Amino acid sequence: MDLSAIVSEIAEAMQSETDRGAVATYIPELGAVDPDQFGLAIWQPDGEVFAAGDADTPFSIQSISKVFTLTLAMREMGESLWHRVGIEPSGNPFNSIVQLEAEHGKPRNPLINAGAIIVADCLAAGRSAGEAQAAVTGFVQRAAGDASIAINPAVARSELLTGQRNRALAHFMSAEGNLRNPVEKVLEIYFAQCALSLTCRQLALAGRYLAMEGQVNDDVLTPPHRVRQILALMLTCGHYDGSGAFAYRVGIPGKSGVGGGILAIVPGRASIAVWSPGLGPNGNSLLGTRAMELLAARTGWSVF
Ligand code: DON
Repeated sequence: MDLSAIVSEIAEAMQSETDRGAVATYIPELGAVDPDQFGLAIWQPDGEVFAAGDADTPFSIQSISKVFTLTLAMREMGESLWHRVGIEPSGNPFNSIVQLEAEHGKPRNPLINAGAIIVADCLAAGRSAGEAQAAVTGFVQRAAGDASIAINPAVARSELLTGQRNRALAHFMSAEGNLRNPVEKVLEIYFAQCALSLTCRQLALAGRYLAMEGQVNDDVLTPPHRVRQILALMLTCGHYDGSGAFAYRVGIPGKSGVGGGILAIVPGRASIAVWSPGLGPNGNSLLGTRAMELLAARTGWSVF
């Protein structure tokens, strides 16, 4: 299989697509991103990275960060995390509030906004907001083996000033007793993690531990059974109300972000990062999803 040719062909095909979706504008800083970009990077266990298009352009990973914070929270809390957040798909948009009232402030899963806010609250225990941000950034740097990875402060500020919907989710969960720290402290951590800025190449490296049973070289980031649990959640919940379609069309556990990125993991075989800023109707990258579909077809990497 000539992966170098495959990634180039996919990048070329995506460059000429005219329907590129729409960039997210509810976070003003993301609305300014040029939708005409596409990047793809594939890391393989022998260490080789195949990249094409804008694979070295940094973008806002947004909800993809939820995978990294979930890894940290599971490490710190184990199964007790599931008292605070569920493990079922929501079938609703990423920022939906409807289930929270009927379900007493316990979000369906850790990959929707409400669930990730609970995870951020868990990481806030015994830490200042700054310490929690440093723990998350440090984890991503360690996973990627790249100390230059950082939060884009303009993106974090942009969401801090406008994120009233997340504020509503957090206040509701606080009213239900499921948020232990002050709303603004938790949101500061959550908005900062979403504003982590990575290139496709860096993101593919950051995902290596998920492809390799939790380990990068000799560094154990999390045990193998946790990786299997995280990948199961990515497959069932990683694309929100588009998770079924992604599993059907691509067949690889993935996590999307409203910045247009997708991290997809083929256990034992590859960590894949794809990015194109324009989104489809469920808030997932339109061309990123299309590219993943082509890649799965060309490689036979569906997990099924
Ligand atoms: O909380 C938000 O709305 C954003 N910071 C992240 C949402 C997101 O990435 C949804 N993904 N497709």
